[in-house]
Amino acid sequence: MKKVITYGTYDLLHHGHIKLLQRAKALGDYLIVGVTADTFDRSRGKINVQQSLIERINNVRDTGLADEIVVEEYIGQKIDDIRRLNVDVFTVGSDWKGKFDYLKEFCEVVYLDRTEGISSSELRCEQRDIRIGLVGDSAILNKFENESHYVNGVTISGVCTNNGSLLAERLHQLPCVTDQLDELLNVSDAIYVISKPEMHYEHIYRALGKGKHVLCETPITIKVEQWCELQQMAKDKGLVLADGLKTAYSMAYDRLCLLAKSGAIGKVVSVDATCTSLQDMERMREGNGPCPWNSICAWGPTALLPIFQLLGTDYISKQIVTHLLDEELFFDAFTKVSFVYPHAVASLKVGQGVKSEGELVVSGTKGYIYVPAPWWKTDYFEVRYENPAENKRYFYQLDGEGIRYEILSFIKSIKSSRNGSYIDVNTSEAIIRVIQDFYEGRDVIKM
Ligand code: CTP
Repeated sequence: MKKVITYGTYDLLHHGHIKLLQRAKALGDYLIVGVTADTFDRSRGKINVQQSLIERINNVRDTGLADEIVVEEYIGQKIDDIRRLNVDVFTVGSDWKGKFDYLKEFCEVVYLDRTEGISSSELRCEQRDIRIGLVGDSAILNKFENESHYVNGVTISGVCTNNGSLLAERLHQLPCVTDQLDELLNVSDAIYVISKPEMHYEHIYRALGKGKHVLCETPITIKVEQWCELQQMAKDKGLVLADGLKTAYSMAYDRLCLLAKSGAIGKVVSVDATCTSLQDMERMREGNGPCPWNSICAWGPTALLPIFQLLGTDYISKQIVTHLLDEELFFDAFTKVSFVYPHAVASLKVGQGVKSEGELVVSGTKGYIYVPAPWWKTDYFEVRYENPAENKRYFYQLDGEGIRYEILSFIKSIKSSRNGSYIDVNTSEAIIRVIQDFYEGRDVIKM
């Protein structure tokens, strides 16, 4: 029996795929189809796949052409599969010509002509783009615009800012450049907000009022009542209001949370996160940047994320110790927050005016997880035990600091009309509660 193997993503299965599978089958007696796992696609930069692995497998199965289906999960697997399954012929479309010649050592390699005029990418692009408008004065808007190009189905409609000097050339060439939010809302389906935290409520309120979806850099507001009102408004209008917190979308971060929750380090008894940077302050002093967000708003949400995601939001007590540079503006150069839970503790240190080691440590009864600085854009972490021989290291590629995955999750939420954010509402609300307490002086010691 002559065995043939072929691989692909098979997203939105189309006639180009079917023709390829028919011709692959005709090369032998038994056809094995490798369908790529989501994580494998993501690690090779293919992040726009719309259908889940199960849907894609089912579509391939429904063609009736595959005698066997395998999931492709890692680089080098093709060699493994060919040996393990005694494959005689490896085949793919001509778009890969030459790329798999290294497999000739193991079996025959055939490149089949690709069907012209159709591809999954084109099908994805045919769906109408979601137009996202950018709101705020931060140079991060440049990064956001840049990252949006990696996501199918998004265009940036314009920017509403009071500080054009921070924006790079490309943003100035957008169709709508304004300082009037309504002008931008008129040409957008959704907005990304990174205005000053105290302005978020107004900006989001106006956007939701006009029927626009919102992705807002966390904290969504600085008052829980306002957050509740906006969440209700979004729900009533069938709109998405999502937290923008890129670390939540880093695969390494996601995996370390899953590991901790599955008991890899025993019971979690302590989470300690530190996030500091002097960059924004230095930029401002040199006249190259606006007055930065205070430390609790700039870094608090990021540092609170692993605490609330690993220990939950039902802490018994907390203490906020802060050093304010400017009491009127609530500008904290440094803040430390400590939490007590029924069976655990947590702490965070954040600073826009203090420098420290930006690491994350999750301690458990059997071992601990260590994420080196800067942990909030990590691609690497270690699980460490008493016996160092048992230690494990994990690496997951992080492209674009997580921003492109955040955008992707936002537009998927819009298209599917369900909130697919990686930050659940309890965490979102609990983050704001801490920030509100900071502003209102609850559980606060000034130093
Ligand atoms: N294929 C083909 N003709 C097409 C599209 C795909 O013969 N018009 C082949 C590819 O060469 C590959 C297999 O189908 O052998 C699976 O390809 P896949 O990457 O899943 O499909 P694409 O449509 O090329 O997807 P994308 O646009 O995301 O790259």
